[in-house]
Amino acid sequence: MNHSALSERAAAYLATEDQFGAHNYHPLPVVLERGEGVFLYDVDGKKYYDFLSGYSAVNQGHCHPTIIAALVKQAQQLTLTSRAFHNNLLGEYSKFITQYFGYDKVLPMNTGVEGGETAIKLARRWAYTKKNVPENQAKIIFAEGNFWGRTLAAISSSTDPSSYKGFGPFMPGFELVPYNDLIALEKALQDGNVAAFMVEPIQGEAGVVLPNEGYLTGVRKLCNQYNVLFIADEIQTGLARTGKMLACDHEGVRPDILILGKALSGGTLPVSAVLADNHIMMNIHPGEHGSTYGGNPLACAVAMASLQVLKDENMAENATIMGELFRNELAKLNSPLITTIRGKGLLNAIVIQHENPDASWDLCLALKENGLLAKPTHGDKIRFAPPLIITKTQILESVDIIHHSLLSIG
Ligand SMILES: Cc1ncc(COP(=O)(O)O)c(C=O)c1O
Repeated sequence: MNHSALSERAAAYLATEDQFGAHNYHPLPVVLERGEGVFLYDVDGKKYYDFLSGYSAVNQGHCHPTIIAALVKQAQQLTLTSRAFHNNLLGEYSKFITQYFGYDKVLPMNTGVEGGETAIKLARRWAYTKKNVPENQAKIIFAEGNFWGRTLAAISSSTDPSSYKGFGPFMPGFELVPYNDLIALEKALQDGNVAAFMVEPIQGEAGVVLPNEGYLTGVRKLCNQYNVLFIADEIQTGLARTGKMLACDHEGVRPDILILGKALSGGTLPVSAVLADNHIMMNIHPGEHGSTYGGNPLACAVAMASLQVLKDENMAENATIMGELFRNELAKLNSPLITTIRGKGLLNAIVIQHENPDASWDLCLALKENGLLAKPTHGDKIRFAPPLIITKTQILESVDIIHHSLLSIG
């Protein structure tokens, strides 16, 4: 790898990581050491706009003072008890988050992918208990192009060979339908052994793929009609990212099982949550599911602060306004390299067209040189998802950086 553009100091960090760490990522060559709001700073003191936000974990901005204050205060008092004992925050947090989203119960986990696994276990158990599906016959339907993590179950539903190839055998009972296709979904749901349809309201990792308006309403209707649970993976789209608290809110649709993660802790530690009503959640009994860190008091304190600041600072509303400004300003550039600009709120992507197949990577390198960090997803697409606290002036400056970077790669 050529790291000639890096300072000696930065190159040394990369070399150590390269030598001692597994090579399971392909990061942009930049070494960060500080974050504040919408900005990141590298080890040489250079400042960047963060247009990835830790894959939408940092919706509230880096090191949000309210979230960090809650983190530090709780860290000095009690961090982990395990669920072998009660702690004084789990009840308060459970009440807070269930009232916030309007569900009977929450099941706390850590990473997003654990949230997905939990939702699927809940759906299978519900199918055997409530729908009379014969033991071991329950099916979960997923949409092609889905991404919900890297566990064996998650890659078993993947249509991306770089996720699943060479890792089989895979989880049985998973089936796929094309995304944004209600006719195919209805056909799949007619099978009486189907427990759930698990779907992202907007497919994030696939390159910010938006379904047609009415898709989520259609999913809700079909799931009702065929007595199938609607699982919404809002790990990337939720928590104000798309301009509403949940992306499902754009169509006024309520999923049966809601999965949240990422920004639930404002980027401070892994916190995920699965929300559902009693008729689904109460089929799981003591000892049948859990996690050492799930529901730990540090996570509870941080999650409450992270949710509170989203509302207090009107981040959903800002995401709507800034997202619209961003897409309009990008369109005004009229760049021949951009074939598509799409997104909702501050979850956006562009599709790059260039004879050079590495053009989107080269553009991200140019953006980095000019002070903005973004990363290609699936080759020709670049996601633009800054923290939701970004201002109008900052959006305009960012578009200016994108403009100059586009010109520099020709
Ligand atoms: C929609 C969606 N679901 C689930 C996950 C998995 O989350 P985690 O990486 O925290 O396990 C991701 C991560 O990018 C995601 O985008």
